[in-house]
Amino acid sequence: MKIKDSYIARRKFLCGMIGGGAVALGAGTAVPLTYYAGNLRQQPPPPSMMLEPAEYEGLLPGQGKLLGRTYGHIPVLLVQTPGPESELRIFDATCTHFTCVVKYEDGEDHIYCACHEGFFDLDGREKAGPPPAPLTKFEKRVKDGQLYIALEKENLEDEKLEDAIREPDA
Ligand code: FES
Repeated sequence: MKIKDSYIARRKFLCGMIGGGAVALGAGTAVPLTYYAGNLRQQPPPPSMMLEPAEYEGLLPGQGKLLGRTYGHIPVLLVQTPGPESELRIFDATCTHFTCVVKYEDGEDHIYCACHEGFFDLDGREKAGPPPAPLTKFEKRVKDGQLYIALEKENLEDEKLEDAIREPDA
């Protein structure tokens, strides 16, 4: 082996060692960060949340939208049901199949999950496709002209509303 070949072989070896070290360092950092992010997602949701009128008042019968913020980590779907008896219904927008975010298309009689063609009725009950369970519906209460939502009805009692998340960017 010539001196030049030996130099090239050593250089390749060193590059391999450095590259391997960088990969190991990257994996060693990424795994805990991913785990940490996963834990953040598992933080318990707040007891209740106050919605600003601007977040829901513009909805006409047969319209819906995803709230521009989440309830803890939970996406929130607002549906103003069609028809003369129109009513605001509020759902956890997490599909019960594989956690895609569901949506409502104006005028439809169902909530739709595009991931695997899942359908729910406007009460959140599974209607067609693979979802195995209904959507979770938020409890709601109007107090002093303010709309509050919660996953548990008891969290809408007077004394517990003190703990409600209020600011849209909170
Ligand atoms: S995740 Fe919604 S149907 Fe599969």
